[in-house]
Amino acid sequence: MSSDNKIERYIVTSALPYVNGIKHLGNFIGSLLPADVHARYLRLLGKDVVAVCGTDEHGTPAEIAALEEGLPVEEYCRKYYEIQKSIYERFGLSFDFFGRTSAPENHQITQDIFLKLWKNGLVFEKETEQLYCLNDQRFLPDRYVEGECPHCGYFPARGDQCEECSTLLNPPELVNPRCKICGKRNIEVRKSTHLFLDLPKMQERVASWIRQQDHWPLSTRSIAEGWLKEGLRPRAITRNLKWGIPVPLEKYKDLVFYVWFDAPIGYISITAQWAKEIKKNPEVWKEYWKNPTTRLIQFMGVDNVPFHTVTWPATLMGANDDYILAYMVKGFHWLMYEGGKFSTSQNRGIFMDKALELYPADYWRYYLLYIAPENQNTSFEWDGFQQIVNHHLNNALGNFAHRTITFINKECNGIVPSVNNPDDKEIQALKEIVRKHMKAYTELFDSYEFQKATQNLYQLWQEANKFFQQRQPWKHAKEGNKKHVEDTLSASAHLLRIIAILSTPFIPFTAEKIYALLGYENPKQVHEERWNDIFDFECLIKRKVVPNPKPLFKKISDKEKRKYQLMFNPDLREETSTAKEEIPREKKK
Ligand code: 2FM
Ligand code: ZN
Repeated sequence: MSSDNKIERYIVTSALPYVNGIKHLGNFIGSLLPADVHARYLRLLGKDVVAVCGTDEHGTPAEIAALEEGLPVEEYCRKYYEIQKSIYERFGLSFDFFGRTSAPENHQITQDIFLKLWKNGLVFEKETEQLYCLNDQRFLPDRYVEGECPHCGYFPARGDQCEECSTLLNPPELVNPRCKICGKRNIEVRKSTHLFLDLPKMQERVASWIRQQDHWPLSTRSIAEGWLKEGLRPRAITRNLKWGIPVPLEKYKDLVFYVWFDAPIGYISITAQWAKEIKKNPEVWKEYWKNPTTRLIQFMGVDNVPFHTVTWPATLMGANDDYILAYMVKGFHWLMYEGGKFSTSQNRGIFMDKALELYPADYWRYYLLYIAPENQNTSFEWDGFQQIVNHHLNNALGNFAHRTITFINKECNGIVPSVNNPDDKEIQALKEIVRKHMKAYTELFDSYEFQKATQNLYQLWQEANKFFQQRQPWKHAKEGNKKHVEDTLSASAHLLRIIAILSTPFIPFTAEKIYALLGYENPKQVHEERWNDIFDFECLIKRKVVPNPKPLFKKISDKEKRKYQLMFNPDLREETSTAKEEIPREKKK
């Protein structure tokens, strides 16, 4: 493991969302948002960081969704790539590049990595039994087929996994299988040769690498060690499909790679897409991915942890081509929705496109970070959302910003004064408080503790209000104590600027609004501020703040909350339709 001071670059990744459909708030807090927040933190520290994400476009879920929507799969993927990209931008996700696993760069790098594994003797061929639909005249891998689960009897279990008992399945194990395309049972078993990654050969190398990762969270380590303990098994890396990355061997040209083989390679190839399109230097990605002074930090849902700690690292090690491996693999548990599961089909829960129609991005960002499912599942609750938005954002941050700007307008003609009495004890104490919070800030980010980092930020907002309250500028103004008033307002304005900078990773749009209140012509400058600029006490002096500040946030009323509680929860809707006049009951905890 390289020590911190040798680290020159960072790659931050979020699990690549499947292209099909629009993601819900659970997907958002499960990897996309933490990756963004962490990347923004590293930029704040002035680090060289490239943050990548993109759509995971291969595999049967995308093909089936395209079929259901009546679009050719390429068109379907382009459509949802654009939709997802635009939603993530509106949520303030600041990826340096949001790419696609179907891009030519991913074809090229995936085939290259495969050929190296092949050459290194880590791939073998084996004849397997596959289901074949006589009606559609094609093989039916993974989710192209459904049937009864051989373990629990659940129907319809999918060809790759039973949703009910979570058992991983092979399509021929399904009882009474049915084709998802034509709905018929006109299916036979056919032989087909596939390529397998020889993971057992890699067991020792992977185990020894995992043993060195003593900085991983406990849950990541135990998932990885659990897989190792069971003994690594060979994994099929090809499928009988047309949509995907073709195997670059004449003999297997009719096969494509399994989606989980090419998806994580997407992290590399999306960096290559960034290098070409943004940096205009198609080779520069190698300076990140093939460089031992780069630190790779990966965020994902816990279900993705085995792929990122075992199979994918084994692929990269096996290719033996200088690729770096993950420094951090941070898994998130599940976000529930008012105690139940999110569900597209039942319209339960908030999906990302809808969320933005209801409230600004920062409301969601802040609340979700505050309840991030880091160590266990957590639940989105409308009561909690209302409370956190009203108390933390409105009463703490919003109030402090508003008071500061309003008083500067009233008492100082809108011009930020300088501190006349630098030895003022209360102002000195305030600086100490800020330093303490900044220390905790970096420590919590460096240990990937999102909930606690959010709480630490909130406490700083509270301290800011406490300072203002103690100083009573309204009283001193009345008593004609101008110096005291100016000192208070100058310190408050500086504190507000510091708060804007420190809040940027969490609530980037609000940070910009605060810069606008403070009179910056280009409020986006807040994103360019660096850790070492935080204590710049000259930059605000004599600056003209905004004359009529508008509140930063709006409170959520009980009425509004009830309306949305009903709208996004089918259980509550049923309850109220049987008792129409009753006010909808709050969901029991
Ligand atoms: O679970 C998922 O949503 C996958 N699409 C994640 C892939 S992560 C990476 F490997 F691409
Ligand atoms: Zn069929």
